[in-house]
Amino acid sequence: MSDAPADVTLATPLTRLVGVRHPLVQTGMGWVAGPRLVSAAANAGALGILASATMTVEQLRAAVREVAARTDAPFGVNLRADAGDAADRVRVIVEEGVRVASFALAPSRELIARLKDAGVVVVPSVGARRHAEKVAAWGADAVIVQGGEGGGHTGEVATGVLLPQVVDAVDIPVVAAGGFRDGRGLVAALAYGAAGIAMGTRFLLTSDSTVPDAVKARYLAATVKDTTVTTAVDGLPHRMLRSELVDALERSGRAAALLRAVRHAAAFQRETGMSWRRMVRDGLAMKHGKDLTWSQFLLAANTPMLLKGSMVDGRTDLGVMAAGQVAGLIDDLPSCAELVARVMAEAHATLHALPAAD
Ligand SMILES: Cc1cc2nc3c(=O)[nH]c(=O)nc-3n(C[C@H](O)[C@H](O)[C@H](O)COP(=O)(O)O)c2cc1C
Repeated sequence: MSDAPADVTLATPLTRLVGVRHPLVQTGMGWVAGPRLVSAAANAGALGILASATMTVEQLRAAVREVAARTDAPFGVNLRADAGDAADRVRVIVEEGVRVASFALAPSRELIARLKDAGVVVVPSVGARRHAEKVAAWGADAVIVQGGEGGGHTGEVATGVLLPQVVDAVDIPVVAAGGFRDGRGLVAALAYGAAGIAMGTRFLLTSDSTVPDAVKARYLAATVKDTTVTTAVDGLPHRMLRSELVDALERSGRAAALLRAVRHAAAFQRETGMSWRRMVRDGLAMKHGKDLTWSQFLLAANTPMLLKGSMVDGRTDLGVMAAGQVAGLIDDLPSCAELVARVMAEAHATLHALPAAD
């Protein structure tokens, strides 16, 4: 590995599509992927993606400008298509010249069209083949496909099964996510036909991430069996570190869960300056076409508030810690520059160590 060139590069359909140096993506993570992490990832040659669901539209604009002031490299913004103000967020992305838009959960055809008309590269995240096929038909430029071992909202099918399934199903570049942290993983994903890898947990655990040290320490101490998938936070399967809080959420009855959800909805409203009218409108948008009950809509406010408790306030007892299984394999906090250089050098060494075909 030591004889690897100082700046190893691997050109793929992802690097060509987006204009980044390396086929690596730092994904949008609520409260975690802010201007500091995103600009550090972008300066390291990866595609950094700002998480916007936990920001107001004004905060998003300010964050985009802050990243642009810190890097000349392309970067992206992650948004929720079901937010009542999604169109305003798209306007910010277009007006500020952001290169890439990624979507948390289901995107909408209309927003994809609007972004593409403005020349923004659209890269939704999906967790199932049929979703990849749908967004490809709607004109998405690439997809990030997340296997079940990934952190945050996640599906059931593991990356090793889902990735080749999606690669075979769509003609657009596929970026592999869920369980990646090193150069071997990058080469494995490329061998499956992916155009690169996207990493959440690995970028959260860098010295450039603003997550409080006490919280990072919990991730570093985790083994591969210390994450769990729970629906107790917001009704959707969510992979996070097992903690006393998660156990308590799972044990608590429906009434307690709803009471907590109402409290969090009120706190989220204060935090984001969002009016109750807007929250109700967002709730209706979320419910639209889905089988969501009002209690599920209220539960949705749990995610940002419980994530903030740990990721911003540093309270592992009051906040949840979304995490991929790969947390169990990570035991250091490199800078983004160190991480990216290391992953690319490992990929280079791995490629050269493969048995030669003849
Ligand atoms: C703390 C945390 C917060 C996350 N928040 C979001 C989010 O706001 N939007 C989104 O699309 N994905 C979110 N995710 C999922 C990641 O973007 C990414 O797909 C996932 O972490 C990949 O799996 P890995 O953790 O094994 O690398 C989050 C993941 C984590 C760990």
